[in-house]
Amino acid sequence: MPERDESQQPTGEPTTDPTAEATPAQQESPAHPEPAQPVDGTPRASETSPKPRFRDAPVSFVRRSHRMSDAQEKAWEENSPLYLVEVPRSFASTSVDPEVEVDPAELFGRAAPLTVEIGSGQGHAIVHAASAHPERNFLAIEVYRAGLARTVFNAHSAGLTNLRLVDANAPEVLSTFLPAGSVDEVWIFFPDPWHKKRHTKRRMVKEGFPEVLHRALSDGGRVRLASDWEDYALQMRGVLDAADGFEREFDGEWAPRFDGRVMTAFERKGLEKGREIRDLVYRRTPLAQD
Ligand SMILES: C[S@@+](CC[C@H](N)C(=O)[O-])C[C@H]1O[C@@H](n2cnc3c(N)ncnc32)[C@H](O)[C@@H]1O
Repeated sequence: MPERDESQQPTGEPTTDPTAEATPAQQESPAHPEPAQPVDGTPRASETSPKPRFRDAPVSFVRRSHRMSDAQEKAWEENSPLYLVEVPRSFASTSVDPEVEVDPAELFGRAAPLTVEIGSGQGHAIVHAASAHPERNFLAIEVYRAGLARTVFNAHSAGLTNLRLVDANAPEVLSTFLPAGSVDEVWIFFPDPWHKKRHTKRRMVKEGFPEVLHRALSDGGRVRLASDWEDYALQMRGVLDAADGFEREFDGEWAPRFDGRVMTAFERKGLEKGREIRDLVYRRTPLAQD
C-alpha cells in the first residue's frame, strides 16, 4: 500500500474547510469495490461480448473509502456539478466507456491550451495553477473522492472557471476519453510509489505508458513528473528515455524543480524522511516512423 498523508493542511488553507477528512470512524469499505480481478487501462472484452469486462493489468491505486463527512457531502453536492465531468462507465466505478470521447472546448466553454494533472490528490497544485493561469484550461484526474471534494471546495472558493475534474482511472482517460493530441501538458507529481517489490507492477509510469501519453499530448507538448522515491524516479526516467516520441527537456541528471509545482503533504513528508525530490520534464516529438 503506498504511503498517504492527506492530513496535513498547507498554510493559507481555510480553517473552516468543510472538506476536511472524514474521521476513521466515518470511513468504511468502498461502496463500489473494484472487480476482484486486477485491472488497468486496457479493458478486455470477453469472447461472447464485445464490451470490455475486465482490465488486463493491475491499476495504480487502491480506492479508499468514498464516505465523506456531512460537511464534505454538502460541499460536494452543492459545488461538484460545476466542476465534475460526467464520465460514462463500462465495467467498474473508475472505468471509462472506451466508445465515448469528450470535447474539451465544450467542457470548458472555450478552446485553450489544456494541462492535465494525473493523481491530483487534494488539488493544491492544479488549483494554484488554474488561479495563476486563467488563460489555460486545467483538468484534474483523481479517484480519491475526499481529494476531489477538497479540490472542488478550493476551486469554488477561488471562483475558478477554468478547472474541471474527472473521477476515473487516468490511463483510460488519456487513452480514449480525451481526443488524441488534445493535451498541452501532463503533470504526474508524486505518483503512488508502490515501493515493495511485489507491488512495483502497479506503478503507473512503466513500459506502455508513454504510448498513452503520446496519444493524448499534442506535438511539442510536455510531461512533467516528480517523485521522492529514487527507484521510481529512475524507472520513470528510464521508461521515458527509452520511449519513441519523447525527448528530455533538461540537462544533467534531473530537471530543475518546476516552479508551478507547489509543496504538497506528500513532498513535505518525503523531505521530512530525508528523501530527495527528483523532477523530470520531457517533450513530445513525432514518432520515429512518422
Ligand atoms: C501519492 S498521491 C499524490 C497526490 C498529489 N499529486 C500530491 O502531490 O499531493 C497519488 C494520487 O494519485 C492517485 N492515483 C493513483 N493512480 C491513479 C489513477 N490510475 N487514476 C487516477 N488517480 C490515480 C491516488 O488516488 C492519489 O491520490
